[in-house]
Amino acid sequence: MNVYDSQRMVDLLAPLGYAPVDEAAAADLVILNTCHIREKATEKLFSELGRLQETQQARAAQGSEMLIAVAGCVAQAEGPEIQRRAPFVSMVFGPQTYHQLPEMIAKIARGAGQVLNTDFPTENKFDSLPAATVARNASAFLSVQEGCDKFCTFCVVPYTRGAEYSRPVAAVLAEAERLIAAGAVELTLLGQNVNAYHGQDADGAVWSLARLCVALAELPGLQRLRYTTSHPLEMTDDLIAAHRDLPVLMPFLHLPVQSGSDKILTAMNRRHTADAYRRVIDKLRAARPEIGLSSDFIVGFPGETEADFAATLQLVKDVGYAQAYSFKYSRRPGTPAAAMPGQLTEDVKDARLAELQTLLLAQQQAFNQRSVGQTLPILFDRVSKYPGQLIGRSPYMQAVHAEVPADQFGRILPIKITSVGNISLGGVAV
Ligand code: 5AD
Ligand code: SF4
Repeated sequence: MNVYDSQRMVDLLAPLGYAPVDEAAAADLVILNTCHIREKATEKLFSELGRLQETQQARAAQGSEMLIAVAGCVAQAEGPEIQRRAPFVSMVFGPQTYHQLPEMIAKIARGAGQVLNTDFPTENKFDSLPAATVARNASAFLSVQEGCDKFCTFCVVPYTRGAEYSRPVAAVLAEAERLIAAGAVELTLLGQNVNAYHGQDADGAVWSLARLCVALAELPGLQRLRYTTSHPLEMTDDLIAAHRDLPVLMPFLHLPVQSGSDKILTAMNRRHTADAYRRVIDKLRAARPEIGLSSDFIVGFPGETEADFAATLQLVKDVGYAQAYSFKYSRRPGTPAAAMPGQLTEDVKDARLAELQTLLLAQQQAFNQRSVGQTLPILFDRVSKYPGQLIGRSPYMQAVHAEVPADQFGRILPIKITSVGNISLGGVAV
């Protein structure tokens, strides 16, 4: 979603004469769009700011100005701290106020000093953004839902992104049509809780994500549809049926479970059991047998015992993932879990993470190995560092390298998979 938001900032700044440059040293304005989900993400901000201050001083020595702004969830959560530690930053604003960027820049130009903008404004950000017209890629993101009301006890999202909000159906369909007209053949619908989507249509009727997918599937030119990230509680039967009925809906789903222990799931306030999650997976596989699955896992949540961790490993073995993300529990200020007893040491977390990742990597490699010899439709949307090659994605989100003429960029081609590397596949055009 930060990638999507950053692109919208580019759209917003274009009428003011700003255009993207490749290097900070050439920039009149640098915006760091930040993530607050784990401590590591936050630390990156301050080291990056240190480097940018040097660039800012070097430019000043040559008589050019460089404004530095911090956007996103770290800005939202730690705005005053950023201003204190980095007084050379002129604008600090959260994910719900970036549509006010032109006004903030005008304020700075009038000599306002530092601007801090971390309210949750009553007007809707999406209503004030210019239409997203330029698809920069054959595969485009489209935010349909934002924020979260789930309050998992480890997570900052409900505090930084705010309450759950669904964009109206008409706005989503119009943006999808514009993206397709500009060259997108794949859309990924975004939301922190995307399957909780409940946008209204012009008559005030509330649409589910499944209904939205059905409508999007009918748009001429759309060849692939994905959505991320989902919560197991809202994997409703209509959405599962969409995986059976809509060929454009890709056979891959990222469905975070976090833990395989019911005790830990309760402490996390996930509001589902490990078995309830297994049943959702069973239904998805009944609907779309070839579906590839992905998940997020947290190891070392407060109070996690060896037995709880073993339950997570068991769940992984039962499901069999195509890929997954796994993290050490990271104490986030202000979240309930940060104050829970039974915080684990880094050593325990490191050991559990290593064990889980070994298992997940083996599953990913086994999944990729099964693709060898198959011919898969690959959407080529990245250039490779190897001349003559392009990089694309399989329906299952695997990265695939192949020798493909450069003019096929942005197209979907049948590729026979011939090799498996660590993180990607190799293939030949057929
Ligand atoms: N510690 C570790 N991982 C976290 N995540 C969210 N909050 C934390 C935290 N405090 C992970 C979850 C979520 C993903 C986006 O980030 O697994 O699904
Ligand atoms: Fe965070 Fe996802 Fe839980 Fe919402 S559902 S609180 S975004 S982990």
